[in-house]
Amino acid sequence: MGRFLLAMTLHENEFRKLQAEVDAVVGHDRLPRLSDMPKLPRVRAVAKETLRWRPVTAGGLPHQLTKDDVYTLENGEKVFLEAGANVHPVQWSIHREPKRYPDADSFRPERWLEPSWPTYKEPLTTYPNLQNFSAFGFGGAFVLDNILPNARCISRLQRSLGAVISRR
Ligand code: HEM
Repeated sequence: MGRFLLAMTLHENEFRKLQAEVDAVVGHDRLPRLSDMPKLPRVRAVAKETLRWRPVTAGGLPHQLTKDDVYTLENGEKVFLEAGANVHPVQWSIHREPKRYPDADSFRPERWLEPSWPTYKEPLTTYPNLQNFSAFGFGGAFVLDNILPNARCISRLQRSLGAVISRR
């Protein structure tokens, strides 16, 4: 939530667009519900972009290898990883991979909403969403298959937006 508020403070124009979507879909007399989500692609895009731009676990939670493995780098070079080694999936770098995330240091919710961006996916009633998103970890420890954080993250955002709506 702190990073969402930071993003909205630094990008007032994005906040205005977000509020306009919520106003158009939800109106002014109630809070958003999870059932509104298919009609709120910008809310989902802002949530996802916040977690990409400022990942909660930026350095990644370490995973220990239970057996030897080989990791192949993009240039084809192979790295041997010994059983027992601790591997940190560094989300800060993963979320700044230049081909997947052009202009990676900028907060750009439109990368999830406009076809010109590599991360765009249709239909916008379903995408973007937080399923399988790297912000939530990797492998067996992936946060509860993302179901809980998806709902909670969105509902916290809703409460925050709701607070803004109710002050209007
Ligand atoms: C924005 C919300 C959240 C983010 C970004 C997040 C992120 C993460 C990450 C990156 C991991 C490490 C996964 C890995 O080892 O690869 C993790 C682990 C975990 N998270 Fe979350 N999380 C969020 C919300 C939650 C919530 C709401 C709960 C439960 C109420 C939760 C419960 C857990 C648990 C139990 C683990 C350990 C899983 C395991 O080691 O098997 N997380 N989380």
